[in-house]
Amino acid sequence: MQQKQPSSPATTRPGPSRRFCVAPMMDWSDRHYRYFARLISQHALLYTEMVTTGAIIHGDRSRFLGYNAEEQPLAIQLGGSNPEELAQCAALAEQAGFAEVNLNVGCPSDRVQNNLIGACLMGHPALVADGVRAMREACKLPVTVKHRIGINGRDSYAELCDFVGQVKEAGCETFIVHARIAILEGLSPKENRDIPPLRYPVVYQLKQDYPGLEIIINGGLDSLALAEQQLAHVDGVMLGRAAYHNPWLLADVDQRFYADPAPRPDRLQVLAAMRPYIARHIAGGGNMNHVTRHMLGLFQGLPGARHFRRTLSSDIHRTDDPLALYDRLMADMQARMAKRDCSL
Ligand SMILES: Cc1cc2nc3c(=O)[nH]c(=O)nc-3n(C[C@H](O)[C@H](O)[C@H](O)COP(=O)(O)O)c2cc1C
Repeated sequence: MQQKQPSSPATTRPGPSRRFCVAPMMDWSDRHYRYFARLISQHALLYTEMVTTGAIIHGDRSRFLGYNAEEQPLAIQLGGSNPEELAQCAALAEQAGFAEVNLNVGCPSDRVQNNLIGACLMGHPALVADGVRAMREACKLPVTVKHRIGINGRDSYAELCDFVGQVKEAGCETFIVHARIAILEGLSPKENRDIPPLRYPVVYQLKQDYPGLEIIINGGLDSLALAEQQLAHVDGVMLGRAAYHNPWLLADVDQRFYADPAPRPDRLQVLAAMRPYIARHIAGGGNMNHVTRHMLGLFQGLPGARHFRRTLSSDIHRTDDPLALYDRLMADMQARMAKRDCSL
């Protein structure tokens, strides 16, 4: 499908539009998911999983900075706090062609806290500001920060403003705010995405108090209707789990958030468009499941959804010819959709 330039009705800011963003999600928003998501929405801004500065500097760069050109507009999310390392990675991200570099100040995992990565950095606003300043000096990309509204022990609105104020002074103009605090001890990262209550009004207040900043709200937005309502208060939305589990939700994003009159794709077209991608992945030595595990929710809510999900989650492990299984599944789903259309 043809790539279009994102339009940005809400903002004149340079760089990609963040009116609708798909969240960075470790192990989920990998390049295969993003390729698939891009077939459904041409405009949503996609984020990579968090990549640590250590992985980029010392690891396999082509793996950590690699993506398919079709995924653009694409932002990379970095995990780290050492300003020199962040600067080095921001420069590499720019060379690799990313549209934005984002710093993770929201991940509550113990593993990352030990390395001063993620949500614990909300307790170190000056260090985040130094990192942002260093990244801005090292590249021309927009540098953005994704953070929480606080952490346990540092969860007042004044402390949130202190954080945002210091990071803003370092030149960050875009803040993606997960509207709940992170509890750094005693809760798993998964629990930290559900247990601390969502407090959207705190994010709205931030926008009122810093009208010049671009504020993107995140957390618990599970429908486009709910996401659209946010635009009365903030500049954009970021959806994570809903966009992953129910990817077809992205099908209305271009029309509803970007006023793009192009007709939306249909599920069967997307299924067909994934086939050459999957074939290339297999030809390169990959496993079909690496790609199709992200597609399980494509028919959610429709007849045949269970068959689709089961074929790609269990039958796939019992076949020697995964592409033939995929072709049969496409034919099955086509037949089921045709039957459904006739019965409407
Ligand atoms: C499986 C998974 C992995 C995640 N990994 C990251 C990550 O790498 N970086 C990050 O900033 N947030 C990460 N998050 C948090 C999401 O970006 C998002 O802030 C959170 O899920 C709340 O949004 P939602 O309610 O729309 O899912 C992850 C979430 C999930 C479910």
